[in-house]
Amino acid sequence: MTEAAQYSVIEVLPDGRRIEIRALSPSDRGEFAEAVGRSSAESLRRRFFAPRHSFTEREIAFFVDVDFVDHVALVAVTEQGGRPVIVGAGRYIVVGPEQAEVAFTVADQCQGQGVGGALMRHVTAIAREAGIKELIAEVLPENTPMLAVFKKSGLRMTTKKERGVVHVTLHLI
Ligand SMILES: CC(C)(COP(=O)(O)OP(=O)(O)OC[C@H]1O[C@@H](n2cnc3c(N)ncnc32)[C@H](O)[C@@H]1OP(=O)(O)O)[C@@H](O)C(=O)NCCC(=O)NCCS
Repeated sequence: MTEAAQYSVIEVLPDGRRIEIRALSPSDRGEFAEAVGRSSAESLRRRFFAPRHSFTEREIAFFVDVDFVDHVALVAVTEQGGRPVIVGAGRYIVVGPEQAEVAFTVADQCQGQGVGGALMRHVTAIAREAGIKELIAEVLPENTPMLAVFKKSGLRMTTKKERGVVHVTLHLI
């Protein structure tokens, strides 16, 4: 078990609310599937570049059964009505030597409140600790919030637009 698999920190959002950023656990599977079901069509299109409404068991297993080495996933958890609720997820998948692809999703009603930025900081910290030198992402050009999170990360960023997709590279060194 790697250290990343035990990851847990408390973050304070700009509005003062506290969220926990922690490692995704296999027991989050049910809530993960529910969160996908609650996502707006637009959020799912921005994340998966195609209309999605549900995922197969196999796809859910891919997202949830992560090894915290080649595939690291964190969730953002807030308290709603006295119980913890997952409001966002950020992950990286190693795709080459010292290179990993990142992706983020924040629940629609929680977007624009700093959750994505918080997930980005912690995903980056784990990647850096693991020796990753470059984070890459494919983003739709109109996805201003995702591009803003990357710009605000403070990492050196290069972009290339190709066939309607922005290829982002963030340099960790
Ligand atoms: C992209 C996403 C993960 C960002 O998460 P978030 O929690 O909304 O992001 P944050 O609140 O941390 O930061 C958003 C930043 O984007 C900017 N932003 C947000 N909405 C914006 C808009 N409509 N226009 C311009 N900038 C915007 C703000 O500058 C904000 O920074 P701030 O801290 O100065 O306010 C989230 O919006 C999401 O889940 N979108 C749908 C799925 C998706 O697109 N995933 C990415 C696939 S590559």
